[in-house]
Amino acid sequence: MEQKAFWERRAREFAGLYEEPTLFNRLFRRALYLRAQMTVERVRAVPGASVLDVGSGPGRNSVLFVKEAGAARVVGVDLAEDMVALARDLAARHGTADRCSFATGDFMKTDPPGAPFDFAVALGVMDYIGDPAPMLARMRGLARREVIASFPGFAPLRVLQRRVRYALGGCRVYWFGRAEIEGFFRSAGFPSWELLPCSGAGWLGVGRTG
Ligand SMILES: C[S@@+](CC[C@H](N)C(=O)[O-])C[C@H]1O[C@@H](n2cnc3c(N)ncnc32)[C@H](O)[C@@H]1O
Repeated sequence: MEQKAFWERRAREFAGLYEEPTLFNRLFRRALYLRAQMTVERVRAVPGASVLDVGSGPGRNSVLFVKEAGAARVVGVDLAEDMVALARDLAARHGTADRCSFATGDFMKTDPPGAPFDFAVALGVMDYIGDPAPMLARMRGLARREVIASFPGFAPLRVLQRRVRYALGGCRVYWFGRAEIEGFFRSAGFPSWELLPCSGAGWLGVGRTG
């Protein structure tokens, strides 16, 4: 699977975006930090919440859900073994290993332990999926309260730069218009949802499951 190989190779580089938030990243990758902060605030509103972190990557957000949002339990699932290794290490370093666990695998084919969860979250994942509706539907089936997913919007310079850079690495990237994202939530069967603007160039979609 091209995505898995891509993220195995990029695991350490991607983790570095959080470890060394340079001025460039703060300016041009603002959505990366903002989408996590917006999600932390929603999780914090439910004391002792459980969270499924789909495409948990290096685990930075999983740890934030425990440390900053007070989540009692976070389960991360990621395709890339190297990402899962980084996530486990990060959780241990932050003293949250008892509340964060991580599994390697394709979320679409993995039964995450401990389902259902209050929240099912996918940050920075739909960017690499041509049709996010099936993933949203699967997340809906595992979440009691909300499904939260980020979607990149169209920002011409950034889109061109990402398309070239990721294509060279063998990974396709996608971006979606507002109406298209609404359509994904509709066809995934959500009774209601909202799209919150995220840094002017993307969206945080919040689907209610109940
Ligand atoms: C850009 S990283 C985002 C990581 C993390 N959510 C964050 O925001 O820091 C995207 C991650 O999604 C994972 N991923 C993509 N599709 C997946 C799938 N079907 N199942 C599990 N993980 C997936 C990739 O392996 C990669 O680690």
